[in-house]
Amino acid sequence: MRIRRKTIGEIMAGRSNNTFYVTTPIYYVNAEPHIGHAYSTIVADVIARFYKLAGYDAFFLTGTDEHGDKVVEAAKKAGETVRSYVDRIAATFRETWPKLNIANDYFIRTTDENHIETVREILTRVYEKGDIYFGEYEGKYCVGCERFYTDTELIEGKCPIHLSEPTLIKEENYFFRMSKYQDWLIDHIRKNPEFIRPERYRNEVLAFLRDPLEDLCISRPKRRLSWGIPLPFDENYVTYVWFDALINYVSALGYPEGDRFKKYWPVAQHIIAKDILKPHGIFWPCMLKAAGIATYRRLNVHGYWNIDAGKMSKSLGNIVKPMDLSSKYGLDAFRYFLMREMVFGLDSDFSEQALVMRLNADLANDLGNLVSRSTTMASTFFNGLIPAPGTLDDEDRSVRDAALKAVDTYRAEMEGFAFHKALIAVWEVIGRLNKYIDTTRPWDLAKTDRERLATVLHAVTEAIKIVSVLLWPFMPQSAERIQQQLGYNEVGLALPLDGIKEWGKVRPMRPVSIAPALFPRVKIEEKPEAEAPALVSLEDFQRLDLRIGAIKKAEPISGSDTLLKLFIDIGEIRTIVAGLAEHYTIDELRGRQVVVIANLKPVKLRGIESQGMLLAAVDEAGVFLLKPDKESKPGSPIR
Ligand code: MSP
Repeated sequence: MRIRRKTIGEIMAGRSNNTFYVTTPIYYVNAEPHIGHAYSTIVADVIARFYKLAGYDAFFLTGTDEHGDKVVEAAKKAGETVRSYVDRIAATFRETWPKLNIANDYFIRTTDENHIETVREILTRVYEKGDIYFGEYEGKYCVGCERFYTDTELIEGKCPIHLSEPTLIKEENYFFRMSKYQDWLIDHIRKNPEFIRPERYRNEVLAFLRDPLEDLCISRPKRRLSWGIPLPFDENYVTYVWFDALINYVSALGYPEGDRFKKYWPVAQHIIAKDILKPHGIFWPCMLKAAGIATYRRLNVHGYWNIDAGKMSKSLGNIVKPMDLSSKYGLDAFRYFLMREMVFGLDSDFSEQALVMRLNADLANDLGNLVSRSTTMASTFFNGLIPAPGTLDDEDRSVRDAALKAVDTYRAEMEGFAFHKALIAVWEVIGRLNKYIDTTRPWDLAKTDRERLATVLHAVTEAIKIVSVLLWPFMPQSAERIQQQLGYNEVGLALPLDGIKEWGKVRPMRPVSIAPALFPRVKIEEKPEAEAPALVSLEDFQRLDLRIGAIKKAEPISGSDTLLKLFIDIGEIRTIVAGLAEHYTIDELRGRQVVVIANLKPVKLRGIESQGMLLAAVDEAGVFLLKPDKESKPGSPIR
């Protein structure tokens, strides 16, 4: 009879008084899941699995943020009704996570009925307490973005997306009296050094709180935005998306009466990236305080994954999709790479090459080899059943002690969210074991000293068992495969963190087996010659006729939303067709100085001959035309 192995979660559920609650941001449904979303969610999965392993009753929440103008905008672009659009994208998130072995206990959507009810209930409470008032809001509003901008967000007074001046508009709205909680919040952060971590982000929030905190506008008039939760005290308004979204962390637990709320809320830990520090570090604690709810225990803030040292963005076309990587390199290699490479709290560069290097070195070489050589030896020398060890010598004891000590280091690092350090501690054991095998030479012992051979292989397999348990939160699939090979799961045994410290107490009752390589090596793709950055000779460069031009006139081109027809003075008048319509208004272009490539082969665009090209900087915020530092004569050469 084969006994189904219980999951650690099943074993621990209801057994433990220790509880743990972890959340990810709920992601906007205006884009499909990418590596940034995957990272936060994998971190939450790893930490939830770690606490389950450590015997805690842990609850892990993720979900989607579905209201607000960003989402309406995205639905419009996709040509779908908002409802069907949010359902579709929310489903891609929900379906992606299990494929990455992410085992969340609940998935919340802000369009869920119970969430909507909770938001309205909390709004009512705060309103009745007198912390929400009606007032006039005056702000700089970009019609293109349909949103208000603060002065610091504007670039030279202009909208960073549309590069146009925002309009000053006055609007009546509801405000949350956040200013009232400023002193309380400063005090709370000071008294609880671990409230926001790592420390750099705690300092950032404290620095922000040095200036007077403004009240928060928490409504949007329905005529401008109808896709939101109506305010319970004024149906002409919907709730501002952040006031709605943050509440997911308690609505998912069944606030106020739900058992889960009572059990898990006191130990809540949020995981976010630095981009949403302000709503989580400031708005949310103030909201909770006003609603009479204890604040969360901890906010864990990580950095950003950059691609090729730059930002990842749709407009740059460099979005990294988690499923692509996991199917190409294996799910566990992908999870391991993310957790090992990033120092929690700092930014990291993503590259496939770095992933392949870690896969080959750490996984295929160090861990994979260790497991395969050890299980092969156990299989061949003892038919898979390792006998009890003989007396331990100093070397055996020191290997044992190192493995046991690693459990403590690992535990402390995991609790501190220093995942890379926890993994380094595990790899120290792996390295140590490989060396131990090299020096004890079991293949020689097989011929000379079977008792010593048993002692060595027993120590090795025992230590691999520990390694597999420590790796389980990061790479559940591979860890379980290792345990299977070592003969553990056949007896319906789950390996919790505490149990593994009892060296040699539980031995496999089934033979150790040889299995295919855990992590096949990946060939590093050599870049084809042609793709290497080609160097340009001075002569080549000099063949370009670069000149200063002055735009005399700009016209839209019928049938195109992106192209404009420009008449440019470069000593003579040239017609140039440029894709600037989404970035500049016609007024902004008129009279502007630009840099022109004057000897580019003419091409016909939309029936118009384009006689040259303009130079511009392109980044995720938009397209920015180059111009000389001081006004120069049209036609001046550029050298
Ligand atoms: N909907 C809000 C969050 C509301 S929470 C009450 C939101 N959504 S989002 O879709 O923009 O997700 C932002 C989060 O995605 C970041 O805080 C981070 O967790 C993750 N990441 C998005 N891009 C990222 C990187 N490039 N790198 C690392 N994580 C990133 O903001």
